[in-house]
Amino acid sequence: FALLAGLTSMSVAFGAACSSDGAGGGGGGKTTFRLAFNQTEEHPQYIAAKNMGEKLEERTDGRYGIRVYANEQLGSQNEVVQNVSAGTVEMMYIGGPVMESFNPDFIVFNLPYMFASIEAQDAVFSDESVMGDLKKSIEESKRITVLSALFAGVRNVYGSKAVRTPADLGGMKIRVQQSDSQVKMLELMGGIPSPMGQGEVYTALQSGVLDGAENNETVFHALKHDEVAKFYSYTRHLMIPDYLLINTDKLNEMEEADRTVFLELAEEARVEANEGFLTFIDESIAAAKEVDAEFIEDVDSEAFRTAVAPLVEQSINNDVRQALADAVDAANQANPA
Ligand code: GCU
Repeated sequence: FALLAGLTSMSVAFGAACSSDGAGGGGGGKTTFRLAFNQTEEHPQYIAAKNMGEKLEERTDGRYGIRVYANEQLGSQNEVVQNVSAGTVEMMYIGGPVMESFNPDFIVFNLPYMFASIEAQDAVFSDESVMGDLKKSIEESKRITVLSALFAGVRNVYGSKAVRTPADLGGMKIRVQQSDSQVKMLELMGGIPSPMGQGEVYTALQSGVLDGAENNETVFHALKHDEVAKFYSYTRHLMIPDYLLINTDKLNEMEEADRTVFLELAEEARVEANEGFLTFIDESIAAAKEVDAEFIEDVDSEAFRTAVAPLVEQSINNDVRQALADAVDAANQANPA
C-alpha cells in the first residue's frame, strides 16, 4: 500500500425520539433531527451541518430541521452511536474506528498508511460498488445509514516531547480512538495505547495520565491540547474518514420528496465540510504556533510504516476486506501522493 501523502462529556437527558422544540430556527410542529458532534462550533463539519439544517427547513417548508449539538454534549461517539442505532438520537458525525464495533470490515479504512492522497480516499468512498454492501450491512443489522464519508485530516502523534522514531515513543502513554485497530497500531508504533473518548483527553494530558495523543492539527488546537502537549510530530500515520450517520428508520419515515432533498443536502454538506477542512488545518497550525507549539517535520515515517505493516497484513484477512483493500490500492494508483 502506498504511503500517505505529505500531507466534557455532559449528558443530556434523552426524551422523545424527535424533538419539536423549534431549535435551529424552526417553525412549530416540525421534526428536528438532533445531530451529535464531538468537536467545536468552529469546525467545518459543524458549520456544514448547521447550514444543511437551515436549507432543509427552507426546502421542506419547515417540516424538517437539524439541531447540531457540539462539544460531545450528547456523549462520546461510542455512546452516541448506540443511541443513533436505537433511534433516540437521529444523526451524528462519527470517526471511522468506532464503526468497527458494528461491522469489523470497516477496519480496512482505518489502517495506517492506507490512503495515498485525499483524492484516493474520496474516490473509494464515492464508489457505491465498493461501499454499497458495507453500508447495507449496518442498515440491516443496526438501523444506521451512512450518508457520507468526509475527509478528517491526517493524524500525527503529539505529546510532551518530539517523536521522530518508534523508539522515541517508548514508554509514552498515547490516547487512541476506541477500537482494536487503533490500540494495536499504537503498540506497533512503539508506544502505550490508551483508548478513550475525545472529551477526556485534555484533562488526561494536563494531569499527566497521558503523555500524548494522535490526531489532526485541528483537534490539537481547537481542544487546547497544544497548551499541554507542545510537540506535534509528523508521523502521518493515518487518514481516517468521518462518517455522517442517520438512523435508518428516521430516514425512511420521511416522505420521498423530503428524503430526496435531505440526501441532496447531505452531499452538499460533505463537499462544504471538506472544502473548509484544509483552511481549518492551516488556521489551526498558525494558532498553535502562537501558543508556542512546535511542529516536527523530520520524522522517520518510513520506520513507522514498517513497524505497523504486520497490522495491515493481519487485518486484511477475509474476502470482503481484500476487495476493499484492492479498491483502495486501485484508487491510490489512480490518485498518487
Ligand atoms: C477527529 C475525527 C473525529 C474523532 C476524533 C477522535 O477529530 O474527526 O471524528 O472523534 O478525531 O480522535 O476521537
